[in-house]
This record gives sequence, C-alpha cells and structure tokens, in this order.
Amino acid sequence: MKMKTKMIMMMMKKKLVANKGLPPSRESEVLQNISARLFDCFLVATYCYRSFETQQAIYQNFVDQYGEEAANRFSAKPGESEHQTGLTMDVTSESVDFALVEEFGSTKEGEWIAAHAAEFGFVLSYPEGKEDITGYIYEPWHYRYVGEEHAKFMKENDLVLKEYLNEY
Ligand code: DAL
Ligand code: ZN
Repeated sequence: MKMKTKMIMMMMKKKLVANKGLPPSRESEVLQNISARLFDCFLVATYCYRSFETQQAIYQNFVDQYGEEAANRFSAKPGESEHQTGLTMDVTSESVDFALVEEFGSTKEGEWIAAHAAEFGFVLSYPEGKEDITGYIYEPWHYRYVGEEHAKFMKENDLVLKEYLNEY
C-alpha cells in the first residue's frame, strides 16, 4: 500500500515539474490508469502551473461572469495564484465529471488524497473552516507541495500555510 500510494504521489510531484503550462496530458492519463488499477480510484490532475497571462485570463473570465467580489472568493488575482509558483495542482475524479467542485471532497478519491497527501509533501491550501484565513472558499481539489516535513506538521496541527508562516 505504501509503495503504491508513493508511486502515485511521486508521479504527481513529477508532473508538477514537467507540466509547465501544458494541457492535461500523458502524465495525467498514466496517473489515472495507475490509480484506477491499484485502488479502483481515479485521481486526475487538471490545472498545474499557470503563467501570469493564463491566470489573468481565468480571473478576468470569472470577474466578467460573476463580478469582482464573488470572483475574489475562488479565483486569485494574476500575480497571487499558487498555481503561478508551479508547486500547485488541482485534482479531481470521474465521479464528479472531472469538475472542480466541493463534492469532490466527499468522493473516495477526495477522501483518499486528503488522508494521504501530507505523507508525500502536499497540503490542501484552502480547507473547509479556514475561509476567513485563506480568503478563499473550500477547495478540496487544490493541493500545494510544501515538502513532507512541513506538510505533516501542518496537517497534525491543522494549519494552513499562512498560519504556519506567521506562527512558526
Ligand atoms: N482557485 C485558486 C484560489 C487560484 O485561482 O489560484
Ligand atoms: Zn487550484
């Protein structure tokens, strides 16, 4: 089990480095196939690295659709997105039609990654109940790589990155 979970998380890590702004591709397919075969659990990586221009286009599209105040609750302004660091990945599953929706958190894939991500250095950036601190709504799909040691500490102490950086 440990080896299998490790394999998948290693692939996610590799994808963070490899997929510089490319559309979801080969690594995502492989990730799906491996996780499906081993766990009957489809975990799919979608957005990874985003350039300033990509973030700007995404943000502006949400502002046009929902207005600035609403958009600011779930989309970072260009220059402020963790996706621009290349350390962040949005994951989802077939069971929610590969959408980035709150329901993903209650799927077996969402629960699996919430339970295991820290073992491999990833943390959920915008958890439920921390909206006032993070500034963003609950995003069960948005994981950031911080390294194993930090991720474990943050999980054990129920801290988001902002709290961790302020307090430690
Ligand atoms: N959805 C997150 C906040 C982002 O746009 O980076
Ligand atoms: Zn994200």
